[in-house]
Amino acid sequence: MPFTANAGFHADPRMIERAEGMYYYAADGRQILDSCAGLYTHAAGHCHPDIVAAVEEQLRTLDYAMAFQFGHPGAFELAEKVAELTPDNLNKVFFTNSGSEAVETSLKIALAYHAARGENQRTRFVGREKGYHGVNFGGLSVGGIARNKNGFGAGLPHVHHMRNAYLPESRFSKGQPEAGMEFADDLEQIVQTYGGDTIAACIVEPIAGSAGIFVPPQGYLQRLREICDAHGILLIFDEVICGFGRTGKAFGAHSFGVTPDIITMAKALTNGTIPMGAVACDIALYDAIAAGKDDRTIELFHGYTYSGHPVACAAGIAALKVYQDEKLFERANTMAGKFCELVFGLNDLNIIRDIRSYGMLAGIDLEPGDKPGDRGYELMQACFDEGLVLRTSGDTFVLAPAFIAEEDQLEEMISIIRKSLSKWAA
Ligand SMILES: Cc1ncc(COP(=O)(O)O)c(C=O)c1O
Repeated sequence: MPFTANAGFHADPRMIERAEGMYYYAADGRQILDSCAGLYTHAAGHCHPDIVAAVEEQLRTLDYAMAFQFGHPGAFELAEKVAELTPDNLNKVFFTNSGSEAVETSLKIALAYHAARGENQRTRFVGREKGYHGVNFGGLSVGGIARNKNGFGAGLPHVHHMRNAYLPESRFSKGQPEAGMEFADDLEQIVQTYGGDTIAACIVEPIAGSAGIFVPPQGYLQRLREICDAHGILLIFDEVICGFGRTGKAFGAHSFGVTPDIITMAKALTNGTIPMGAVACDIALYDAIAAGKDDRTIELFHGYTYSGHPVACAAGIAALKVYQDEKLFERANTMAGKFCELVFGLNDLNIIRDIRSYGMLAGIDLEPGDKPGDRGYELMQACFDEGLVLRTSGDTFVLAPAFIAEEDQLEEMISIIRKSLSKWAA
């Protein structure tokens, strides 16, 4: 099982059989509240009838179309809808099947862009400590979560990491911390050491998600953009978690007012119903890669059998329509204040070491017990027994509810967590 303590699971399985809206249903019929919108996927909740209907209809019409050298209307329609949501000129879209594949694709597009312009020497990538960019070798290399990298070899050569942009004094900050913008100068440092013209791209999550929700300090992403611009380095935002309303706007790029050259996305692209990822890149990148190629020449030797799978496209088109019809990004934006207030209500408990929150995302650290990670695991188990699916990683837990959540459901999440923490919090 993925990222799972298999022995623990088999000893006491947490099985989910059915889902609807904000709830899962266990094998014994128990209703269980979902505090992580699937895995940051289900912005509109589970089994949305419009998305289910679109998938059913697509399966009856076109279950697959040859992906190489052939197309189908759904892929172009979804690409256009995605391009309507992405900022500025990020209007060229490449489909993948996951966030990990979107990241690999983005790194390859960055290299292809520089090569097309005769800058083959730009082969370095810069990532960030605690960054999560999926589990494939490129993403693992630019990622910065040690446990995920250990034991899996050296990874890509010529990858450098900036520090995680978080200061101890920023603990319990609501929204963007005031301090820490200077962490962006780590990129300038790497430029000074290795030469800006050897660096292809710098990749960051606008909000570091999997590491436990680290919100960028004020001015930090702007400074990264400036440094990239000064040295011709492409800026990639990995928005696999942030994308599609999680920050209160379509993308983190909008919320933080910084436009990267490439955005990676997945998860809520199809409201999690069918696996799919995508890369949106600035039209200038596409034009540079396509320049001078005749109509027999493949521009980018890259792609997947299931790139733009018709059923995933149908799910994506339906999901984006639901987000628009139900004004879910606006709802996320409006609800974020109440959500933040409720989450910060936990800070009276001694067991809570830090809370970070932005939009409909919050990361909460527990004081570790004798063995790091044990408390997180026990909290997850206790919450499940009390009727809540909670995403924990080590001694950190994350809240990322669907945007359809009602206030009383948010309150219920917090109250189950509080109850489950009581054995340590007394
Ligand atoms: C920022 C980020 N990038 C990439 C990925 C990988 O996505 P996937 O698990 O779909 O491969 C994730 C998954 O959580 C993610 O949060």
